[in-house]
Amino acid sequence: MSQDQVENLLSEDRTFSPTAEFAAQANIKEAEYALADADRIGFWESKAEYLKWDKRWHTVLDWQVPFSKWFVDGKLNASVNCLDRHIDEGRGDRVAFYFEGEPGDTRTITYAELLKDVKKAANALTEIGIKAGDRVAIYMPMIPEAAVAMLACARVGAAHSVVFGGFSAEALISRINDADARLVITADGGYRKGAAFALKPAVDEALSGEHNVKNVLVVKRTGQEVAWSDRDIWWHEIVDRQPEEHIAESFDSEHPLFILYTSGTTAKPKGIFHTTGGYLTQASYTHRAVFDLKPESDIYWCTADVGWITGHSYVVYGPLINGATQVMYEGTPDTPHKGRMFEIIEKYKVTILYTAPTLIRTWMKWGDEFPNKFNLKSLRLLGSVGEPINPEAWMWYREVIGGNRCPIVDTWWQTETGAIMISPLPGVTATKPGSAMRPLPGISAKVVDDSAHEVGKGHGGYLILDKPWPSMLRGVWGEPERYKETYWSKYEGIYFAGDGAKLDSDGAYWLLGRVDDVMNVSGHRISTTEVESALVSHEEVAEAAVVGANDATTGQAIVAFVILRGGIDHTKGEALISALKAHVVKEIGAIARPRQILVVNELPKTRSGKIMRRLLRDVAENRAVGDSTTLADPNVMNLIKDGLATATED
Ligand code: PRX
Repeated sequence: MSQDQVENLLSEDRTFSPTAEFAAQANIKEAEYALADADRIGFWESKAEYLKWDKRWHTVLDWQVPFSKWFVDGKLNASVNCLDRHIDEGRGDRVAFYFEGEPGDTRTITYAELLKDVKKAANALTEIGIKAGDRVAIYMPMIPEAAVAMLACARVGAAHSVVFGGFSAEALISRINDADARLVITADGGYRKGAAFALKPAVDEALSGEHNVKNVLVVKRTGQEVAWSDRDIWWHEIVDRQPEEHIAESFDSEHPLFILYTSGTTAKPKGIFHTTGGYLTQASYTHRAVFDLKPESDIYWCTADVGWITGHSYVVYGPLINGATQVMYEGTPDTPHKGRMFEIIEKYKVTILYTAPTLIRTWMKWGDEFPNKFNLKSLRLLGSVGEPINPEAWMWYREVIGGNRCPIVDTWWQTETGAIMISPLPGVTATKPGSAMRPLPGISAKVVDDSAHEVGKGHGGYLILDKPWPSMLRGVWGEPERYKETYWSKYEGIYFAGDGAKLDSDGAYWLLGRVDDVMNVSGHRISTTEVESALVSHEEVAEAAVVGANDATTGQAIVAFVILRGGIDHTKGEALISALKAHVVKEIGAIARPRQILVVNELPKTRSGKIMRRLLRDVAENRAVGDSTTLADPNVMNLIKDGLATATED
């Protein structure tokens, strides 16, 4: 975020108070903050009461910095909390998912049907030898079976590791091996941008080397041709013939529920690992509080893919525990037309919409005529997540999508936090366009300087969390030292989030983006180092430096500077650039495709050899290059800029 934008934020003085009508019916009232402040532990204990426990905990929190245990000795089953309890309490006929496939096929799935599917899938997992404590990789399109697979794993106590379907075979196998997964659940493919894309070939490629995967379960979604081997099993062949009964076992509150990989500052992604009782407590509480969910009447739609944490906490666990009726959409927003998502809102009378700033900005770019063609009057609340939302996009969201009637909740959180941490409460908070406003009840978030002193109103610094919270990560899978080093070493006993933040003169929180070498492209975290090592793994590249440059649609875009290897007859110009982009897509996935790759002869380095990304960012953002006096060769930036005059972009 540029200095200008930071200054603009400081002068934002528009506020939007909840209407008296909304406030009166809201799930959470102002008093909640004081209640949580008076007894934070008791507050979270009261939220855990919403879950169905088979054995009660004896201690709410065991905190041995930086390792926490919540609801110690309690026992429960995540899938029972999402499903069985609704059927037991007479809600089996309620719709859990209205599924809308990209080609226009639809499915309506009630809670009773979802439970039946999950029980059969759990029986299938048991038949192929999956046991509590195992890990299962899930690599799926956004179809109901993705949720069924996650819940079936949870039901038998196997931790799932969902890998986003847009990741490459290389990214998949590194995650499979890091978690030592025994099983992969995938599909032949899915639908995107009007065509079938394939998933199974990437799984086959991933499994061509060393691993401990015994079986691959394949959901038939597109019917396309797939290669087949002895370890492959069609989902329908094994699941359909299973008994419809399955008695779930209770697991410890701290039993691993899932691992989800996210980019850090090194090339190797971190396996963020979450457990059961605390995670479910906070995911479900925040879903009721922040989205003001009324399960009998709301139609809730979170547009995130299950491959991301938002899909875990706010498509699967939080909403299902709360008995929500949801929309799930498989495809892209512009297929077959740019109004597709508005058409879905109108069709299902969606009341709560939770999406990302990058999509909001894309809608803005396409123009108001698309939302204006559809009736969006059913909407009563809008949410945003994944990156800072700029005030213009916030105002457009409010006016054009929300008809100036819906409160907007800008929710700050991370894969690591497991659930929302900073957000307005829609019936309480007077919101400002672009601000996540204040920490939720029960959460302690502060903005501090380098010596951990709070900065005070009107100042900026680093965002930290200084008290444990129920859905906090329990570690980095297999790497306890990395967990301590990444999150707990900058400040003693305090969680360092890696985000910059500012408090305005009223004390509202403004998130300013990452302060480390992590980019945020369309709300997805990608590390500069990951892309650099993908580039350097190409035979023609000697060195690479990657920066995130501001981008009007995607928030940040990837810009790479590469030095080619000597002694090689390089493919020239455009062809080489395209080959390098394709190589990054192959190594990581399409989300990491650089917007621009610039071939240079030198990179700006300090005398100690550290690349000065700040200067490269100036170039990538077409700004005057800042102070370069600490460079080993101060002339380098001129050479780079001269060389760029002819560079192209796509
Ligand atoms: O930089 C923050 C940004 O996304 C990062 C977390 O990314 P991830 O783990 O992929 O989770 C995204 C979905 C929760 C944060 O460190 N971020 C997330 N939400 C916001 C945000 N930045 C500003 N405002 C937000 N509302």
